[in-house]
Parts: sequence; structure tokens; C-alpha cells
Amino acid sequence: MRTPLVAANWKMHKTVQEAQAFLQVFRGLTEDVTGVDIVIAPPFTALTAVVAGVQGSSIAVAGQDAYWQAEGAFTGAISPSLLAHTGATHVILGHSERRNLFGDTDESVNKKMSAAIAFGLTPIFCVGETLEERDRGEALVVLTRQIRRGLDGLSGEQVASLVVAYEPIWAIGTGHNATVDQAGNAHAHIRGILRERFDTGAAESCRILYGGSVKPGNVREIVAQPEIDGALVGGASLDPKSFFEIVAGGRATTV
Ligand code: PGA
Repeated sequence: MRTPLVAANWKMHKTVQEAQAFLQVFRGLTEDVTGVDIVIAPPFTALTAVVAGVQGSSIAVAGQDAYWQAEGAFTGAISPSLLAHTGATHVILGHSERRNLFGDTDESVNKKMSAAIAFGLTPIFCVGETLEERDRGEALVVLTRQIRRGLDGLSGEQVASLVVAYEPIWAIGTGHNATVDQAGNAHAHIRGILRERFDTGAAESCRILYGGSVKPGNVREIVAQPEIDGALVGGASLDPKSFFEIVAGGRATTV
């Protein structure tokens, strides 16, 4: 049985003080919540403060990206090793904003995946098609390519413990989430590729999250889909009460 996971992607939001204020409220709300894993991905500047702020809870902390080199002359980049040393345990890789705005490719994401795993981080590996690709009927082809290339060279054991996030690009930050059928089909397809490329055990253990305009009002019907193991949440994760409601909704219907 896969434990549901709900992850907050704060993107380029929240100062240290704002992150601390969030945690003060959020920790109080989630004190008694069980049966769901919670991850928060703050901007790099608030990582250390968030790691300190979740001490004594089961909330895990993620980076929003990492370069594949361990250290060196790479101005502006953060390595998986630096991330791990802050106390972060997860890292979002291949987010569509990194792919579209900062030049990430399937190949660079693949290098980042291997490096992150080598440094003991759990990747939250993002895939998803554009609206044009969906309209051309190519959504599943795009997902197949992203998964095959992004996970190239990984072992079944490594795939078993990673997290995949299906985020249709047209649903991110737009208020238009995928229908449960669209998401359910994409998730079943992704699990099918994992089964074919790796093995059934890896495919069954790997958690596949849905992301794209997840809110307190739609999380329950989304995670009620058998192949959807939780959510990656952007905008609606910035408010502690809203994110708590999504965590509670993610828990209620998938265990
Ligand atoms: P959104 O973002 O929830 O604001 O649509 C999701 C994401 O980009 O991870």
C-alpha cells in the first residue's frame, strides 16, 4: 500500500519570516494528522529556516531544483550535496517552469536525477504535456518520452522509492485542473511505462502525484483515483489553512 504524499511547491515565494509564520500555523493544524506524508519545498533562501521549523514533526523538506555536479565553479547553482547538508531530503526535478524558462531538457533532468539519488535525496520528478501537445493527441507520447529519458539508467530499486508528479502544463497556475478521467488515464499510463521499463514491484511502489491547480475543493476527487497517490501543490500551498485542507483531503480518500 502506497502512503499518500502531499507536497507544497512554494516556487519563488516566502521570505524566512513568512516561512516561519506559515509553519507556526501549519504545524498546529497538522499535529494530529497521520496517514499522509507531507513535503514542503521552499525557495533555497528559506531552506535552513524551514528545516529548523519542522524539527520534531514528520514534515519533510525539499529543494526546488539541483544541479548534477557536487561542487565547483557553477555560479548560481545548488548541488544535491549542498541541499542534503541543509537537512532537505527531497528535491523537485524537471518542473515545467525549469524546463520552459531555464532550459532543462530530458537529458539534463536525467543527470540531475542520478546525482540527486547518489546524494541520498528523493527526487520528485515532474512530467507533463503542453496544451498543444494534448490537442494534437500527443499527451501520452510526450509522457512516455519524458519518463524513459528522465529515468534512463536508474535501477528498479531506485525507481521504487522516487516520486513522480504528473503536471499537465496547461493546468499549472491556471485554475483549470485536469478532469479526473484525464488525470487517471495519464497516471495509469505512467505506471504502465514504469512496469514495462523497470518491474512491477518498482511500478507499484513508486508514488505518482497529480499537480496543476489542486485546491481544497478538488483534492478529494483527484486523489480518489486509484493511480493517484497525492498532490504537488503550488498556489494553494502558500496559505497554511488551505494547504492543511489539501493534506487532510489527500489523506482521507487514498488510504
Ligand atoms: P499550481 O502549481 O498548484 O499553482 O497549479 C503546481 C505546480 O507547479 O507544482
